[in-house]
Amino acid sequence: MNVVIVGAQWGDEGKGKVVDLLSEHAETIVRYQGGNNAGHTLVVGGKKTVLHLIPSGILHAGKVCLIANGVVFDPEVFFEEIESLVVGGALTQDDASSRIKVSERAHVILPFHRKLDQLREAYAKRSQPDAHIGTTGRGIGPAYEDKVARRGIQVGDLLRPDLLRRKLEGAIFEKNALLKHLYAAHGGEQIDLEEALQVALALGRRLRPFVADARVLLQSAIAHRRPILFEGAQGTLLDVDHGTYPYVTSSSTASGGALTGSGIGLTSLGRSVEVIGIAKAYVTRVGSGPFPTEIEHTEPELAAKLRKVGGEFGATTGRARRIGWLDLVALKYAVEVNGITGIALMKSDVLQGLDAVKVCTAYRLGGNTIYDLPASIEDLENVEPAYEVFPGWDAYDAAKARSRSDLPAEMVAYMDFIERFVGVPIVLMSTGPGRHETLLLKNPFG
Ligand code: GDP
Ligand code: IMO
Ligand code: MG
Repeated sequence: MNVVIVGAQWGDEGKGKVVDLLSEHAETIVRYQGGNNAGHTLVVGGKKTVLHLIPSGILHAGKVCLIANGVVFDPEVFFEEIESLVVGGALTQDDASSRIKVSERAHVILPFHRKLDQLREAYAKRSQPDAHIGTTGRGIGPAYEDKVARRGIQVGDLLRPDLLRRKLEGAIFEKNALLKHLYAAHGGEQIDLEEALQVALALGRRLRPFVADARVLLQSAIAHRRPILFEGAQGTLLDVDHGTYPYVTSSSTASGGALTGSGIGLTSLGRSVEVIGIAKAYVTRVGSGPFPTEIEHTEPELAAKLRKVGGEFGATTGRARRIGWLDLVALKYAVEVNGITGIALMKSDVLQGLDAVKVCTAYRLGGNTIYDLPASIEDLENVEPAYEVFPGWDAYDAAKARSRSDLPAEMVAYMDFIERFVGVPIVLMSTGPGRHETLLLKNPFG
């Protein structure tokens, strides 16, 4: 069996925790899109590890962690992350290049991508305060733009000095014009080709032992029926095609991205694939963009309380996450777009002790009731959520529960309602950040 983990909301649902938990059953763990805009938190034995780029299977000795072609790869962040795993004792320097592989086709984030991302955000904030995206400033958008514009630098290019010089010339030329004419007054210094080349070549020399043809490794795993765990980053509503465009990230975060981002065909996994959608029992969003069930302005005290109890501050940028009620219209949409076969419901512990828990089951728009996510951003900004209200539940410990019947009756009623609404079962309940604060109702690996 193979398993794809996707965020079913706006990111930060707890994907890292679930990937870490399920890695025991897989041989290869694959990141297939996004980059170090991700922040995936694992808590094992009380120790917290935050990963941005390296797959969340890394704490399991002997598992291979693959960064596939669809990722935008920042080599500097990669080496920092390896270093911190080595210092933390999770990895040895000798093990690193046999356990972690990077696709030669992955596109590279270089310092000028980061710079451009930050300059653009600062510029947009000044000139159109309502329209800036609120990116993570990690260079993700500019690197994907270069990829699609066919002027990107790939990991394999870092190993070929002559080719790299030619490609860098192509990548830099337009950016320097932009920096000179639009951003010069705001710290947009010119990119020096020789300097950029030397930095990139030095990174390439360190990277050589990690570089592989990820597609070939994955095809071999499939041929030998060795289980693969695909680790999505961000969430469905941040998908460049299916999210709340333009307030999205620049990659295919939905499960389709697992195919294009790793070189696997639609039928390659046949029936041996489960898609697990990770969803919190409430919803958060970092950055700008519509958020129908947001309670920051309607129930500000509750929002502040949930943010505090749930530790809802970005694992990448430290920004406060916006808080809202569970949105089942959006979750059902995520089930369809991803082909989700099971839901992992996270952080229900954060809601415990509340008198009432709300879930959104429809939107009101211009006097009509609608049951699907509108495609237009303008409509989505104007919908009013319609709620179903449930009694809250008392504290419980999922790690001690063996089955659904061990959970509080109010919790079970809430779960039943969600399952009926979205049409797929809840296969995992999480009640704390720790690996074992989890009730696995059905193991997707079988
Ligand atoms: P990801 O980006 O989807 O991997 O999620 P993040 O790591 O950015 O954010 C999820 C946060 O919630 C992390 O701090 C986790 O340690 C924490 N977490 C995960 N599951 C639970 C849970 O069931 N209860 C609580 N209280 N915290 C959780
Ligand atoms: P994980 O994997 C939550 C958001 C940013 C911004 C938008 C675009 O930890 O769930 P980008 O830097 O990607 O161009 O920013 O996407 N964003 C995330 N929000 N979790 C993430 O990752 C995110 N990665 C990007 O806040 O709104
Ligand atoms: Mg995160």
